Amino acid sequence: MQSFVLGEMIEYDAALRVRKPIFKLPSFVSEIVCYEPGQVTATHLHPKQDEIWLVLEGRGEIEVGEQRLGVQRSSLIYIPAKVRHGLRAAADSRLVLLFIKSPGIVDEAMQGSAGGPVAWSGPPSTPTGSQFLLEVSDLHAEARDVLQVELRAPGGGELPAFEPGAHLAIELPNGLLRHYSICSDWRERERYVVAVGRAANGRGGSAFIHQGLRRGSLLCASLPKNGFALAPEGRQYLFLAGGIGITPILAMIRWCQAHARPWQLVYAARSAQRAAFLETLRTLQGGSIHLHADDEAGRVFDPRPWLQGAPAGEHVYCCGPAPMMAAVKDAAGHRDPGSLHFEYFAAPADDAARGHRPQHAFEVELRRSGRTLTVPADRSILDVLQAHGVAVVSSCREGTCRTCETAVLEGAIDHRDYCLTPSEQAAGNTMMVCVSRARGARLVLDR
Ligand code: FES
Repeated sequence: MQSFVLGEMIEYDAALRVRKPIFKLPSFVSEIVCYEPGQVTATHLHPKQDEIWLVLEGRGEIEVGEQRLGVQRSSLIYIPAKVRHGLRAAADSRLVLLFIKSPGIVDEAMQGSAGGPVAWSGPPSTPTGSQFLLEVSDLHAEARDVLQVELRAPGGGELPAFEPGAHLAIELPNGLLRHYSICSDWRERERYVVAVGRAANGRGGSAFIHQGLRRGSLLCASLPKNGFALAPEGRQYLFLAGGIGITPILAMIRWCQAHARPWQLVYAARSAQRAAFLETLRTLQGGSIHLHADDEAGRVFDPRPWLQGAPAGEHVYCCGPAPMMAAVKDAAGHRDPGSLHFEYFAAPADDAARGHRPQHAFEVELRRSGRTLTVPADRSILDVLQAHGVAVVSSCREGTCRTCETAVLEGAIDHRDYCLTPSEQAAGNTMMVCVSRARGARLVLDR
């Protein structure tokens, strides 16, 4: 038997509604969702699943089909399959919702009856804290399966500054949090441009962007962050981009051109038709471009010839699929680790092997809240924190996006992420709680 005290699971987050799984069984799933005033679940539908919503606390408004209805504590709502529905917490009230439905919460929540995501017509979440609203001002195909999205402040005006390599965390109307590198020029302050590749086996973010986004859609974003910063002291730069990994690198090459730093780009794609921004790249000066198309070469990209030697002052930046990143790391093993920079957009396919590394149970002390929790050998810190009602915003849950980054006050960390630099890992004062663990018996977290 499993039992939960729902009142102890309630936790709010100004940045994002808080969702906590309760039961995840073959027959049904159940979650508790906590909204700050004005936060929403955007309009969506489930092709096959009926759903029941029970309001535990607070007030709000729901939309089911053509109907709108005010809801309050103890409202019980039945939502049949194939009927569009959404919810907004009242502007002056928090709201806590329990829902029960058959499995497939995230991915199927976006599906339309034809199997594609539903175009989003509802309002965005209300920006909170450091969040702000962006309006989709332009959308067009940049290459095969790559959509370019231009974002501006609603009504115009200057946007928060960013550096080359930075990304935006965007809360999609379907509730997913996704990160997209900004590929436009950092000196353009009135717009951001991102590009999104269609992921064949994605978890719903790229499918929504490709099929559900429209000009005029409003999105909630967090301030740009940079975990892939360009080292300005480099004498020259070697950029290795795979597929959609070109996006942060395009912004970096713009910087190189503006600062008259020599650059070289090696761009690997499955075909030239899938290589985004080729025409734009060819207009940038001060460097050279080598395109590797798998279909023309008859093989995947081999980075070894490009990484022989170690020219003084050369910095290498690599962003692409995990096998390419692994090949580049192997080929660059003789170089100064401080000159090598990687940004993953997905964990390696064999990442499951990481779960087979020996792991043990340990304790985490939450210093600010004065609680101590046990993390079993088969669960992540993130799972345990969320199960005990500690609000931790997460996105990738595989150690690539930095969303769940948590400061560590004491204890040795077993880093298993793909986003901290070697020196950040060695410093031992921060960790990704979705994948990393304790080396010893205890960690003290700043939570
Ligand atoms: S949720 Fe992405 S790194 Fe943890």
